[in-house]
Amino acid sequence: MKTVKILGIETSCDETAIAVVENGQKILFNLVYSQIDLHKEYFGVVPEIASRAHLEKINFLLKEGFDQSNLSYQDMDAVAVSNRPGLVGSLMTGVGTAKVISSVFQKPLIGINHVLAHLYSNFLVSQNIPFPFIGLVVSGGHTLLLKVEAWDKVTIKGTTIDDAVGEAFDKVAKMLNLTYPGGPIIDNLAQQGNEDAISFPKITMYNKKRNNYNFSYSGLKTSVLYFLKKQKKMKIEDICASFQKSAIDVLYEKAIRLAKSEKINRIVIAGGVAANSYLRRLFLENLENQVFLPPKELCTDNAAMVAGLGYHFFKEKKFDKLDLNVYSKNDIPIGQGVI
Ligand code: KG4
Ligand code: ZN
Repeated sequence: MKTVKILGIETSCDETAIAVVENGQKILFNLVYSQIDLHKEYFGVVPEIASRAHLEKINFLLKEGFDQSNLSYQDMDAVAVSNRPGLVGSLMTGVGTAKVISSVFQKPLIGINHVLAHLYSNFLVSQNIPFPFIGLVVSGGHTLLLKVEAWDKVTIKGTTIDDAVGEAFDKVAKMLNLTYPGGPIIDNLAQQGNEDAISFPKITMYNKKRNNYNFSYSGLKTSVLYFLKKQKKMKIEDICASFQKSAIDVLYEKAIRLAKSEKINRIVIAGGVAANSYLRRLFLENLENQVFLPPKELCTDNAAMVAGLGYHFFKEKKFDKLDLNVYSKNDIPIGQGVI
């Protein structure tokens, strides 16, 4: 059978990424240019800086990928690109580039939902994860609980009502005078800390009255801020470990509760925060072979996940036209699909 090679392009936030994946699994190249150094001093992503950096880098990355792999645009069967959700100016660079490649080389164009692509990063390494599954996407921009019955039958069950979980890690790191992004640093420091040292209120916990799967991290963030104002002598490692436990436990509890109520026992996790050691331990120790986590290098934004999910739509012949647009949000109300 002929192999199918898909070029993936990802520019939804602050990583410019390109990849070629064969048959939805074999990564032929996977290049990521991270803009972290450009955004560090602002402790968060500055949209205009991000858009400009994508514009500067993307052609060089494409040249590098094709040169080092000895592949050519003609070898591609389609071009898949993240077109939603994300920073509009950033997405435009990727989508504009994909359209040019698609029209010059006469290759089908496939617009990809970045959140679903994160979940696909698990399928790059695990054969045949069966549908349906509960999807938990945890990143700098998203905290989403999803019921995934097929790639085009996805229902949002819970979302963040304020800060995303990764954003909470980044903001707490800033309060602690650490650098950006905060997640990996807090994770590292927490490994030498006592997670029970401080009991931050579980404000993000399941709200019995409203019985929902939404998340809120602003209360936890504020309680860390007040704690720091009062307590000057506490070990930073203990603060990190205690904050991390509060932030992650709620993800675990809500994911399990949704899995039980939907009678679906598989949980597929993805996004930058899926690299967190405490999260990985918590899910893996309790759920063993019912939980799927990507390798750490595929948790954060990359284009292999975009090309991989593109292969699925290629097989279904679900292509987009050259008027493909970009969208900042998943504008789907809770309880409804498809995202
Ligand atoms: O998926 P991603 O690269 O970008 C978005 O789509 O947002 O996720 C980036 C986020 C950042 O907020 C970063 O602090 C967080 O993922 N992150 C982590 C860890 N590694 C990255 N959070 C907690 N623990 C980690 N080890
Ligand atoms: Zn992402």
